[in-house]
Amino acid sequence: MLELKNITKTFGSVTANDDVSINVTKGTIHAIVGENGAGKSTIMRIAYGFYNADSGEILVDGHPVSIRNPHDAIALGIGMVHQHFMLVDTMTAAENIILGAETGSAANLDLDKANRDILTLSNELRLGVKPDAYIEDMSVGQQQRVELLKALYRDAKLLILDEPTAVLSPQEVEEFFGILRRMKEQGKTIIIITHKLEEVLAISDEVTVMRDGRSVGNVKTSETTAKDLARMIVGRDVLLRVDKTDAEPKNTVLEVKNLSVSGKNGPAVKGVSFTVRAGEIVGIAGIEGNGQTELIEALSGLAKTTGGNIEFDGRDVTNQSARKLKELGIAHIPEDRHKRGLLLNSDLAENSILGVHYRPPVETAGFMNTAVINKRVAQIIENFDVRPPNPALPAKALSGGNQQKLIIGREFDLKPKLLLVSQPTRGVDIGAIEFIHRKLIELRDAGSAVLLVSAELEEVTALADRLLVIREGEIVAEVNPKTTSVEEIGLMMTGG
Ligand SMILES: Nc1ncnc2c1ncn2[C@@H]1O[C@H](COP(=O)(O)OP(=O)(O)OP(=O)(O)O)[C@@H](O)[C@H]1O
Ligand SMILES: [Mg+2]
Repeated sequence: MLELKNITKTFGSVTANDDVSINVTKGTIHAIVGENGAGKSTIMRIAYGFYNADSGEILVDGHPVSIRNPHDAIALGIGMVHQHFMLVDTMTAAENIILGAETGSAANLDLDKANRDILTLSNELRLGVKPDAYIEDMSVGQQQRVELLKALYRDAKLLILDEPTAVLSPQEVEEFFGILRRMKEQGKTIIIITHKLEEVLAISDEVTVMRDGRSVGNVKTSETTAKDLARMIVGRDVLLRVDKTDAEPKNTVLEVKNLSVSGKNGPAVKGVSFTVRAGEIVGIAGIEGNGQTELIEALSGLAKTTGGNIEFDGRDVTNQSARKLKELGIAHIPEDRHKRGLLLNSDLAENSILGVHYRPPVETAGFMNTAVINKRVAQIIENFDVRPPNPALPAKALSGGNQQKLIIGREFDLKPKLLLVSQPTRGVDIGAIEFIHRKLIELRDAGSAVLLVSAELEEVTALADRLLVIREGEIVAEVNPKTTSVEEIGLMMTGG
């Protein structure tokens, strides 16, 4: 249905796509895999007219086409859901869906009819989207369905999904795959970019592997394995599990007593108590939306508490500012890197000093110390393999996974007494996951206390020395991840 032929695309000195050819067969689910920065999003954005190729050809149903912008792509039946959603928070699902798609003048806009059409579409695929619900009140999973509906409402026959599962809980992934299968039954063609090999194996018919801007392999899913794919992606064998010794915990660094925090819809954290000691990783397992976000925000100074205490290093730090906490030695790798972690329009050098930019050695007596900044950013780029390794690039020019590596590198560089880390490997390729896991263990072994939140149950059980299960804002169990099965923990998370 879609043929991308010999596509080349450069951004300045970076060749994002180098003579890439991909064939997507009608009615199939085609996975695109590859390292961070391999050029996956770029090639798909070209197919969607978001970028224009420098050279190459695009064919739809065997005919050469010109896709200069998303409008052209939509007219050809191509829809795309981006890696980072592009919805307006303060508008309803229906308003977002028809935004830009309405024909005729605004006066002719029939919101009632649009609402009905959207509801019909939503019901057909069992998406459960309420047209009049506001985006800001929805879970990420629901927001994603709105993005899907947005493409389907424009009559997309080919849907391009850029890392759609990165933000979903395991349960949501299951439901999402159900939706994809139903769409396939309806005759849709789907392209899915993902870093999760088990997902590739579960959902796709065919896989294209990209590396360094090129397409380096194309296989039928039924004829490959996770191990083979991993080798094709990274170019070497990858350790697909975590390798660590037992923790040797020392003094208590963080003591949380009876802590309560409010969220958007009332109490989110309800009187939790726990400790984290130097030299251990304490994991928090739970289905997203059970208070993890609010807990970490309170601990990092981004949200106020409504009850209880936080003690850090023997002193009460409840409701201290984020800046103060950072000065005391608490680093934070946030779950939402676009909202909290980066200044997208600033360069890597500036981003590398966020949080320490106002104090020595970065700033002294009102002057920014360029030498210190240059050294710092160079170190982060080197140690965390941030690509491309150019400190002058704006953060938004980095691929998703490389943005994450930059944030992790910056926070690790603080040599924190306590690291608060949420979803450390979201959107990160398998080689980088192995690397980040190793770095987290190294930080632990160097004596930092680590509090880890991850929606990936496999990840949190593999990394944590002790595991707390959170449900509806309460810690319902503490388990030894070595002796408790993932299934048991899953049951505790759901209360089943
Ligand atoms: N708008 C842009 N300006 C400059 N460089 C860009 C831009 N978009 C992408 N690049 C660069 O092109 C290369 C490919 O990026 P792309 O986003 O396609 O990678 P990806 O395979 O989707 O990676 P990830 O898995 O991290 O999302 C990277 O080196 C990236 O830094
Ligand atoms: Mg990408």
